[in-house]
Amino acid sequence: MASLTIRKLDDAVKTYLRLRSAKNHRSVEEEVRVILRELIEGREEPLTPFSAPPAQSIAPVPQRTGALPEASVTLIIGGGIAAYKSLDLIRRLKERRVEVRCVLTKAAQQFVTPLAVSALSHERVYTDLFDPQSEFDAGHIRLARDCDLIVVAPATADLMAKMANGHADDLASAILLATNRKILLAPAMNPLMWNNAATRRNLAQLQRDGVVLVGPNSGEMAEAGEAGVGRMSEAIEIATAAERLLRPPVPKPLAGKRVLITAGPTHEPIDPVRYIANRSSGKQGFAIAAAAQAAGAEVILVSGPVDLDDPAGVTVKHVESARQMLEQVRAALPADIAIFAAAVADWRVANEGEQKLKKTAAGMPPLQLVENPDILATISKLADKRPPLVIGFAAETEHLIDNAKTKLARKGCDWIVANDVSPATGVMGGDRNTVHLISKNAEKNDEITVDSWPVMTKEQVAIELVAHVAKSVTGKSLESAS
Ligand code: C5P
Repeated sequence: MASLTIRKLDDAVKTYLRLRSAKNHRSVEEEVRVILRELIEGREEPLTPFSAPPAQSIAPVPQRTGALPEASVTLIIGGGIAAYKSLDLIRRLKERRVEVRCVLTKAAQQFVTPLAVSALSHERVYTDLFDPQSEFDAGHIRLARDCDLIVVAPATADLMAKMANGHADDLASAILLATNRKILLAPAMNPLMWNNAATRRNLAQLQRDGVVLVGPNSGEMAEAGEAGVGRMSEAIEIATAAERLLRPPVPKPLAGKRVLITAGPTHEPIDPVRYIANRSSGKQGFAIAAAAQAAGAEVILVSGPVDLDDPAGVTVKHVESARQMLEQVRAALPADIAIFAAAVADWRVANEGEQKLKKTAAGMPPLQLVENPDILATISKLADKRPPLVIGFAAETEHLIDNAKTKLARKGCDWIVANDVSPATGVMGGDRNTVHLISKNAEKNDEITVDSWPVMTKEQVAIELVAHVAKSVTGKSLESAS
């Protein structure tokens, strides 16, 4: 049986479905079923967008950036005067590309109406534990799990007490008990209730249970003349706290570091149409550039001819030959870290033909080869601008570790990433790589260590390598840095 992910539909279709389902007081899933049933029964409503509710009932939602991944929140609105702020919270969440499904407690309906909440969320609103309409496809289990985060705003003293003690006698408390998602509470209550020993006990229990809190703030209460701690946080503060849980900040352990990377093959011209080259897709070097950029580094990627898109946020210098590559590498110095992943051609033709070489009766033209500059060795041996960490690659087809150790010494670099590229491995042009990190430990008398990694995708190798680099250069790990 096919299943349909509403979130993956076109924006226009999603908007149509949301508006139509809100109008009919059905969930989006129910609405899709109704549409399908009507189509099959041959009495479908015309698929023209029906007129949107008047402007004052659905305020336009500004989109901050289309690049944010979508997320979804179940928002439980408790019964307190601060419930009016939850209407603004819905808008603030939607600005951040967060879908919001709302649940109103019985008491909340004294302060805000399901209609207003539905109009702002563009979704049906849920109020009853035993609702025949929602039982089928969006009962409390779906509301509890079919989201990325649960936000309770306002979280009243009563709701917190129910949560702390595992009650489930209404839809809101049943969702909170049935969820395996993170819960964010925005408490709102009178300062005396907030400071009451029972609330303190409940709060301590909830914090032990892993519930996250935003607020409450201190200030004037709705009740005349009362002030203290208990005011619900502002909608924008709650939305920011929710976003931090939905999209945790990515660690940037290489922030402030400049990383130079070479990638791809080089093409060494024989004449204007022919060249000598190594086999190389450039995938590994490009993946390292993307991983270093994601870790916060300023990345300069010097690439030979490849069939890949430039990684976002990376400065890419496109070159053809080894000599051009060396020139661009030199121009990119100084750098904190240099990673040489390019498959540079070892030789070039001594006298490149200005015209296309012709087949003649005299036989094949003699090709005189000369050695190309070794970019890795040149940079490793620089007296002044040598980057503090220089990493080379060793693609070998036999005696992998021994050859790589010899290469480490000969080239004068600090680490070698060695991989077996014999045809049976499928590494050349493929998406997976099995590598060994061979490093020289300056603090331990240049002791050589070999760290063999399991088979990984080239992206995973890149992330792992960047994590090792970050640890070595800054002492920060990818998980802990910020
Ligand atoms: O000597 P071999 O080509 O096996 O060495 C591989 C390592 O040296 C890789 O890191 C490669 O990018 C680098 N290299 C270079 N310039 C060359 C040859 C290799 O930077 N001319």
